[in-house]
Amino acid sequence: MTRVQDLDTPALVIDLDIMERNLQRVADYAASHKLRLRPHTKTHKSLLIAQKQLALGAAGLTVAKTTEAEVMLGAGAGELLVAFPVIGEAKARRLASIAGILGKSADGTPRVTIAIDSVFGAKQLSQAAEVAGVRLGILVEIDVGLGRAGVAPSEAVAFTSAVAALPHLDCLGFTFYPGHIKDQSEQKIAELSETVARVREELVRAGYPPKVVSGGSTPLLYRSHEVEGLNEIRPGTYVFNDLNTVAGGACNLEDCAASVLVTVASHTHPERMIVDGGSKTFSSDKLSSGGPGHGRLLEAPGAVFHKMNEEHGFIDLSAAERDFTVGDKVRIIPNHICVAVNLHEYVYGVRDGVVEEVWNVEARGKLQ
Ligand SMILES: Cc1ncc(COP(=O)(O)O)c(C=O)c1O
Repeated sequence: MTRVQDLDTPALVIDLDIMERNLQRVADYAASHKLRLRPHTKTHKSLLIAQKQLALGAAGLTVAKTTEAEVMLGAGAGELLVAFPVIGEAKARRLASIAGILGKSADGTPRVTIAIDSVFGAKQLSQAAEVAGVRLGILVEIDVGLGRAGVAPSEAVAFTSAVAALPHLDCLGFTFYPGHIKDQSEQKIAELSETVARVREELVRAGYPPKVVSGGSTPLLYRSHEVEGLNEIRPGTYVFNDLNTVAGGACNLEDCAASVLVTVASHTHPERMIVDGGSKTFSSDKLSSGGPGHGRLLEAPGAVFHKMNEEHGFIDLSAAERDFTVGDKVRIIPNHICVAVNLHEYVYGVRDGVVEEVWNVEARGKLQ
């Protein structure tokens, strides 16, 4: 039996009770609102967790990367969505080859779908599909306000008709990511709903009724049913949650399943200690709310994790509830868990302080 405090550090630790509760809650939410759940695996990057999501009723899995799609094939998902505008012949070929492996669903719908916002990218996918003898699903990406990828809502019909004219592709609907809405603002959610409903209506009128309307970030997770016409959600962070999710009001601290166990490596000043994890362990992501710090110490929330070098974490103890000594181990909830997971090789699943499961982060570093 290995207790969490006996693990070598840094170690990414998951509270299994919390993770299981998060997984169940979202599965129940999706089922009760009749929303298809296609969770984004970029947060956990692990086959084991993907399999748990599928076992709880997920209709498929979402990835950002072609190589992540190749890894997630191993989870046994019936369908994969690449929620990133894939560009490049090599990627198109690899996705077409995955489509060949997954085949089509009973009603003929392709089981690999790609978000796209350029005719250039769509043509590459169409050509790769032709060579592989498959069809690929397409979701048109719409920019609903984030200012990242996606065609403007007003261009949705023209772009959809351009993609629909290409052979070997099935235009299944549209996708959006409301990453600009980090709080639970009624007005912003109402505006989002209005935009999505308008795009949907215009597509229906133009003869392209969307089968799939895919959205649903973790910050807006439990408001997804308020977005008119939305029928699919693909949250990622919800499985573990992090300080940014707490800051956005989508969960409480008790819903954060992930923390990084680190050791106090140096404590040469009464108000400062150094732990053995820095930016290569936690990532440098700041709090989206603009607050200070790189994480929250579970053992002393008043301590401020104010600075990082690659391997050194600087903790200011001036307002800490207690002191520590060299060799102590502390757990820190990261600001942004998705990037932290990508830095770790193994994850330690813990229940009641005992390590119950150790799993591999199979898709870590899968960037192409
Ligand atoms: C396109 C897309 N879909 C879904 C997600 C999942 O969102 P979240 O991590 O907020 O759950 C992300 C996250 O970055 C994303 O970029």
